[in-house]
Amino acid sequence: MKIKSLVRDALEGAINIAGYDVEFAKKGVRELTAVDKKVWEPFCREIDRVRLYQQAMDITNMWDTDNFPRQLRFDSLQQTIQHVLQHNIAGDFAECGCWKGLSAYITCHYISEYGGGREFHIFDSFEGGLSDKTDQDDNLRYQLSEQEIVEEKLHFASTESHIHTALEGHDNYHLYKGWIPERFEEVIDTQFAFVNIDVDLYQPTKDSVEFFFPRLSSGGIVVCDDYNMSQFPGAKSAIDEFLHDNSGQVQYFYEVPMGGCIIIKR
Ligand SMILES: C[S@@+](CC[C@H](N)C(=O)[O-])C[C@H]1O[C@@H](n2cnc3c(N)ncnc32)[C@H](O)[C@@H]1O
Repeated sequence: MKIKSLVRDALEGAINIAGYDVEFAKKGVRELTAVDKKVWEPFCREIDRVRLYQQAMDITNMWDTDNFPRQLRFDSLQQTIQHVLQHNIAGDFAECGCWKGLSAYITCHYISEYGGGREFHIFDSFEGGLSDKTDQDDNLRYQLSEQEIVEEKLHFASTESHIHTALEGHDNYHLYKGWIPERFEEVIDTQFAFVNIDVDLYQPTKDSVEFFFPRLSSGGIVVCDDYNMSQFPGAKSAIDEFLHDNSGQVQYFYEVPMGGCIIIKR
């Protein structure tokens, strides 16, 4: 009986995801190849998290950045936020690097629904990334020409109004326009529960984790979206150095298999 119900649940899950894939394909994004389908269909994902990701993609007009690894990183992000809120970890939320507001939209949704009056602090230059590339950011597989650097910068450029549009209706967020760490001092006395670091390069990743981790509550979480992403070796170096120097403060470190990492403070 038990085995029967397990099989039924598994089948229903697979059907759910198959349904989701059809809807996904209707959006006009990259078609799933036969191999993709074979690899991904057996995995069931929580449909509410899938829907929120889709809404965020719609609102920020970012479907051209969609792919399965990215979906999985955003699913991890959502689960991590849910964990922090469900366990009442004290403190505000922060994001370093918001671009057009995709992750900010998702984060703000959870804070507004379940955050009980927490505030959301968002830091970005609004001038794109790659400002202060260092040697740690070089990857021989991705050596960029001057022209490519200009293009990459333009690619990541956004404006504050992108964020105001994405977060319309929420009154719990603050935007800090400027190069990290210029404006961190404005939250120097704030306690944090959750910080999402997504600034691609070594120096701002290092500045962000070094500033925010000491201000995290016990059980609070830092996510770094760029960890283990081969385009951004500097982000991994910055986090690895931090972990090496602060291992006693870390309760748990998890490398998200499709990129990104999660650090839980002891
Ligand atoms: C990959 S995007 C962030 C993506 C975003 N989290 C999302 O979910 O769509 C990286 C962002 O980091 C910002 N950024 C990079 N280096 C920065 C720095 N030194 N100071 C402030 N912002 C920076 C860029 O402007 C860009 O918006």
